[in-house]
Amino acid sequence: MNRKFVVLPDLAALNAQALDHCLSSMKTAIQERGLFTIALSGGSTPKPLYEAIATQQLPWDKIHVFWGDERYVPPDHPDSNQLMARRAWLDRVDIPDSNIHAMPTDEADPADAARKYEEHLREFFQIQVGEIPALDLILLGMGDDGHTASLFPHTEALSVRDRLITVGNKDAQPRITFTVPLINHARCVMFVVAGTNKRPALAQVFAPIADDLTYPSRLIQPQGELWWLLDQTAGQDLKLGN
Ligand code: 6PG
Repeated sequence: MNRKFVVLPDLAALNAQALDHCLSSMKTAIQERGLFTIALSGGSTPKPLYEAIATQQLPWDKIHVFWGDERYVPPDHPDSNQLMARRAWLDRVDIPDSNIHAMPTDEADPADAARKYEEHLREFFQIQVGEIPALDLILLGMGDDGHTASLFPHTEALSVRDRLITVGNKDAQPRITFTVPLINHARCVMFVVAGTNKRPALAQVFAPIADDLTYPSRLIQPQGELWWLLDQTAGQDLKLGN
Protein backbone atom coordinates (compact mmCIF):
# COMPACT_ATOMS: atom_id res chain seq x y z
CA MET A 1 0.00 0.00 0.00
CA ASN A 2 1.27 3.38 -1.04
CA ARG A 3 -0.16 5.76 1.61
CA LYS A 4 0.29 9.52 1.46
CA PHE A 5 -1.00 12.25 3.78
CA VAL A 6 -1.32 15.89 2.84
CA VAL A 7 -2.49 18.58 5.26
CA LEU A 8 -3.73 21.71 3.46
CA PRO A 9 -4.02 25.14 5.10
CA ASP A 10 -7.74 25.66 4.38
CA LEU A 11 -10.78 24.30 2.52
CA ALA A 12 -9.94 26.11 -0.71
CA ALA A 13 -6.49 24.49 -0.79
CA LEU A 14 -7.98 21.11 0.18
CA ASN A 15 -10.46 21.20 -2.68
CA ALA A 16 -7.85 22.46 -5.14
CA GLN A 17 -5.57 19.54 -4.27
CA ALA A 18 -8.45 17.07 -4.45
CA LEU A 19 -9.42 18.43 -7.87
CA ASP A 20 -5.84 18.11 -9.04
CA HIS A 21 -5.73 14.45 -7.97
CA CYS A 22 -9.06 13.70 -9.63
CA LEU A 23 -7.91 15.27 -12.92
CA SER A 24 -4.54 13.52 -12.96
CA SER A 25 -6.15 10.16 -12.10
CA MET A 26 -8.67 10.77 -14.89
CA LYS A 27 -5.96 11.68 -17.42
CA THR A 28 -3.92 8.55 -16.65
CA ALA A 29 -6.95 6.26 -16.78
CA ILE A 30 -8.18 7.62 -20.11
CA GLN A 31 -4.68 7.48 -21.63
CA GLU A 32 -4.16 3.90 -20.44
CA ARG A 33 -7.63 2.40 -20.76
CA GLY A 34 -9.80 4.82 -22.69
CA LEU A 35 -12.16 5.48 -19.80
CA PHE A 36 -12.21 6.68 -16.18
CA THR A 37 -14.26 5.08 -13.43
CA ILE A 38 -14.84 7.08 -10.24
CA ALA A 39 -16.98 6.33 -7.17
CA LEU A 40 -18.30 9.35 -5.29
CA SER A 41 -18.63 9.86 -1.57
CA GLY A 42 -21.62 11.56 -0.04
CA GLY A 43 -22.13 13.88 2.88
CA SER A 44 -21.24 17.56 2.69
CA THR A 45 -17.44 17.75 2.36
CA PRO A 46 -17.15 16.76 -1.32
CA LYS A 47 -19.77 19.23 -2.64
CA PRO A 48 -17.25 22.02 -3.47
CA LEU A 49 -15.02 19.45 -5.18
CA TYR A 50 -17.91 18.28 -7.36
CA GLU A 51 -18.73 21.91 -8.21
CA ALA A 52 -15.08 22.43 -9.22
CA ILE A 53 -15.05 19.31 -11.43
CA ALA A 54 -18.16 20.63 -13.18
CA THR A 55 -16.20 23.71 -14.32
CA GLN A 56 -13.65 21.58 -16.22
CA GLN A 57 -13.71 20.87 -19.96
CA LEU A 58 -13.46 17.07 -19.87
CA PRO A 59 -14.18 14.09 -22.18
CA TRP A 60 -17.44 13.38 -20.39
CA ASP A 61 -18.29 10.44 -22.63
CA LYS A 62 -15.23 8.62 -21.23
CA ILE A 63 -16.08 9.27 -17.58
CA HIS A 64 -18.24 6.81 -15.64
CA VAL A 65 -19.60 7.85 -12.25
CA PHE A 66 -20.57 5.42 -9.51
CA TRP A 67 -21.36 5.95 -5.84
CA GLY A 68 -19.48 4.35 -2.98
CA ASP A 69 -22.59 4.51 -0.82
CA GLU A 70 -26.13 5.81 -0.79
CA ARG A 71 -28.78 6.52 1.78
CA TYR A 72 -31.83 4.32 1.21
CA VAL A 73 -34.07 7.18 0.10
CA PRO A 74 -35.60 8.20 -3.26
CA PRO A 75 -33.21 10.05 -5.63
CA ASP A 76 -35.12 13.31 -5.08
CA HIS A 77 -34.85 13.11 -1.28
CA PRO A 78 -32.73 15.85 0.36
CA ASP A 79 -30.52 13.17 1.98
CA SER A 80 -29.72 11.51 -1.37
CA ASN A 81 -26.00 11.44 -2.25
CA GLN A 82 -27.03 11.09 -5.89
CA LEU A 83 -29.10 14.30 -5.68
CA MET A 84 -26.22 16.23 -4.14
CA ALA A 85 -23.78 15.11 -6.86
CA ARG A 86 -26.27 15.81 -9.65
CA ARG A 87 -26.97 19.34 -8.41
CA ALA A 88 -23.30 20.14 -7.73
CA TRP A 89 -21.86 18.50 -10.86
CA LEU A 90 -23.62 16.02 -13.10
CA ASP A 91 -26.58 18.18 -14.09
CA ARG A 92 -24.14 20.94 -15.06
CA VAL A 93 -22.11 18.98 -17.63
CA ASP A 94 -22.76 17.07 -20.84
CA ILE A 95 -22.21 13.58 -19.42
CA PRO A 96 -24.30 10.81 -21.01
CA ASP A 97 -27.03 9.47 -18.71
CA SER A 98 -25.66 5.97 -19.34
CA ASN A 99 -22.38 7.05 -17.70
CA ILE A 100 -24.14 7.82 -14.42
CA HIS A 101 -24.44 4.61 -12.44
CA ALA A 102 -26.63 5.49 -9.45
CA MET A 103 -27.24 3.01 -6.65
CA PRO A 104 -30.87 1.79 -6.79
CA THR A 105 -32.98 2.62 -3.73
CA ASP A 106 -36.38 1.56 -5.04
CA GLU A 107 -36.46 -2.09 -3.98
CA ALA A 108 -38.63 -2.97 -0.96
CA ASP A 109 -35.65 -4.88 0.44
CA PRO A 110 -32.32 -2.96 0.45
CA ALA A 111 -30.52 -6.31 0.10
CA ASP A 112 -32.17 -6.70 -3.32
CA ALA A 113 -30.94 -3.24 -4.30
CA ALA A 114 -27.40 -4.19 -3.20
CA ARG A 115 -27.56 -7.36 -5.31
CA LYS A 116 -28.88 -5.35 -8.29
CA TYR A 117 -26.02 -2.85 -8.09
CA GLU A 118 -23.47 -5.63 -7.70
CA GLU A 119 -24.86 -7.27 -10.84
CA HIS A 120 -24.66 -3.94 -12.63
CA LEU A 121 -20.99 -3.59 -11.66
CA ARG A 122 -20.27 -7.11 -12.90
CA GLU A 123 -21.87 -6.35 -16.25
CA PHE A 124 -20.12 -3.01 -16.60
CA PHE A 125 -16.67 -4.33 -15.66
CA GLN A 126 -17.26 -7.65 -17.46
CA ILE A 127 -16.29 -9.75 -14.46
CA GLN A 128 -17.45 -13.09 -13.10
CA VAL A 129 -18.82 -13.88 -9.63
CA GLY A 130 -15.89 -13.87 -7.22
CA GLU A 131 -13.83 -11.37 -9.22
CA ILE A 132 -13.36 -7.82 -7.91
CA PRO A 133 -13.16 -4.82 -10.31
CA ALA A 134 -10.55 -2.11 -9.86
CA LEU A 135 -12.13 1.33 -10.07
CA ASP A 136 -9.70 4.06 -11.04
CA LEU A 137 -10.59 6.36 -8.15
CA ILE A 138 -12.78 5.94 -5.09
CA LEU A 139 -13.50 9.15 -3.18
CA LEU A 140 -14.21 8.71 0.51
CA GLY A 141 -15.16 10.90 3.42
CA MET A 142 -14.87 10.01 7.08
CA GLY A 143 -17.48 10.55 9.76
CA ASP A 144 -16.76 11.83 13.28
CA ASP A 145 -17.02 8.20 14.39
CA GLY A 146 -14.40 7.00 11.91
CA HIS A 147 -16.87 5.40 9.47
CA THR A 148 -16.38 5.67 5.75
CA ALA A 149 -18.79 5.05 2.90
CA SER A 150 -21.63 3.41 4.82
CA LEU A 151 -19.31 1.13 6.76
CA PHE A 152 -20.33 2.09 10.27
CA PRO A 153 -18.70 0.94 13.51
CA HIS A 154 -19.56 -2.58 14.68
CA THR A 155 -21.96 -3.31 11.82
CA GLU A 156 -22.18 -6.50 9.74
CA ALA A 157 -21.17 -4.63 6.60
CA LEU A 158 -17.60 -4.40 7.93
CA SER A 159 -17.05 -8.14 7.72
CA VAL A 160 -18.55 -8.77 4.27
CA ARG A 161 -15.71 -10.15 2.14
CA ASP A 162 -17.52 -12.20 -0.52
CA ARG A 163 -19.51 -9.41 -2.17
CA LEU A 164 -18.91 -6.08 -3.85
CA ILE A 165 -21.96 -4.29 -2.49
CA THR A 166 -23.81 -4.77 0.78
CA VAL A 167 -26.35 -3.15 3.07
CA GLY A 168 -24.95 -0.75 5.67
CA ASN A 169 -26.80 0.56 8.68
CA LYS A 170 -26.66 3.91 10.39
CA ASP A 171 -28.91 4.04 13.52
CA ALA A 172 -31.12 1.32 11.92
CA GLN A 173 -31.42 3.39 8.74
CA PRO A 174 -30.39 1.18 5.78
CA ARG A 175 -27.71 2.27 3.34
CA ILE A 176 -26.19 0.67 0.23
CA THR A 177 -22.41 0.57 0.35
CA PHE A 178 -19.24 -0.65 -1.34
CA THR A 179 -17.66 -3.40 0.73
CA VAL A 180 -14.13 -3.27 2.11
CA PRO A 181 -12.78 -5.65 -0.58
CA LEU A 182 -14.21 -3.54 -3.40
CA ILE A 183 -12.77 -0.32 -1.97
CA ASN A 184 -9.40 -1.95 -1.34
CA HIS A 185 -9.23 -3.12 -4.95
CA ALA A 186 -9.25 0.42 -6.32
CA ARG A 187 -6.25 1.80 -8.22
CA CYS A 188 -6.53 4.87 -5.99
CA VAL A 189 -8.54 5.71 -2.88
CA MET A 190 -8.68 9.35 -1.83
CA PHE A 191 -10.09 10.48 1.52
CA VAL A 192 -11.04 14.15 1.71
CA VAL A 193 -11.60 15.13 5.34
CA ALA A 194 -12.10 18.53 6.97
CA GLY A 195 -13.07 19.96 10.33
CA THR A 196 -11.95 19.81 13.97
CA ASN A 197 -14.78 17.36 14.69
CA LYS A 198 -12.87 14.71 12.71
CA ARG A 199 -9.66 14.94 14.74
CA PRO A 200 -10.41 12.42 17.51
CA ALA A 201 -11.38 9.73 14.99
CA LEU A 202 -8.40 10.57 12.75
CA ALA A 203 -6.05 10.09 15.69
CA GLN A 204 -7.48 6.58 16.16
CA VAL A 205 -7.48 5.78 12.45
CA PHE A 206 -3.80 6.69 12.19
CA ALA A 207 -2.80 5.19 15.58
CA PRO A 208 -0.45 2.20 15.28
CA ILE A 209 -2.90 0.17 17.34
CA ALA A 210 -6.70 0.73 17.56
CA ASP A 211 -9.81 -1.32 16.91
CA ASP A 212 -10.68 -1.56 13.21
CA LEU A 213 -14.33 -2.33 13.94
CA THR A 214 -14.63 0.78 16.08
CA TYR A 215 -12.84 2.94 13.50
CA PRO A 216 -13.78 1.35 10.14
CA SER A 217 -11.68 3.77 8.06
CA ARG A 218 -8.70 1.72 9.35
CA LEU A 219 -9.93 -1.14 7.16
CA ILE A 220 -9.20 0.88 4.01
CA GLN A 221 -5.79 -0.43 2.98
CA PRO A 222 -5.93 -0.47 -0.82
CA GLN A 223 -3.42 -2.37 -2.91
CA GLY A 224 -3.12 0.80 -5.00
CA GLU A 225 -2.58 4.37 -3.88
CA LEU A 226 -4.14 5.73 -0.69
CA TRP A 227 -4.32 9.49 -0.28
CA TRP A 228 -5.53 11.29 2.82
CA LEU A 229 -6.21 14.95 2.06
CA LEU A 230 -6.93 16.83 5.28
CA ASP A 231 -7.51 20.47 6.01
CA GLN A 232 -5.46 22.08 8.81
CA THR A 233 -8.33 21.94 11.32
CA ALA A 234 -8.62 18.17 10.87
CA GLY A 235 -4.98 17.31 10.35
CA GLN A 236 -3.00 19.54 12.72
CA ASP A 237 -1.04 17.75 15.48
CA LEU A 238 -1.70 14.35 13.90
CA LYS A 239 1.30 12.04 13.77
CA LEU A 240 1.23 11.22 10.07
CA GLY A 241 3.90 9.03 8.62
CA ASN A 242 4.28 9.65 4.86
C1 6PG B 1 -22.51 9.54 3.46
C2 6PG B 1 -21.05 9.43 3.15
C3 6PG B 1 -20.27 9.31 4.41
C4 6PG B 1 -19.55 10.64 4.55
C5 6PG B 1 -19.08 10.86 5.95
C6 6PG B 1 -18.51 12.27 6.09
O1 6PG B 1 -23.33 8.96 2.74
O2 6PG B 1 -22.79 10.29 4.41
O3 6PG B 1 -20.65 8.77 2.11
O4 6PG B 1 -19.35 8.26 4.46
O5 6PG B 1 -18.46 10.67 3.64
O6 6PG B 1 -20.17 10.70 6.82
O7 6PG B 1 -19.55 13.18 5.86
P1 6PG B 1 -19.25 14.77 5.83
O8 6PG B 1 -18.34 14.98 4.67
O9 6PG B 1 -20.61 15.39 5.63
O10 6PG B 1 -18.61 15.10 7.14
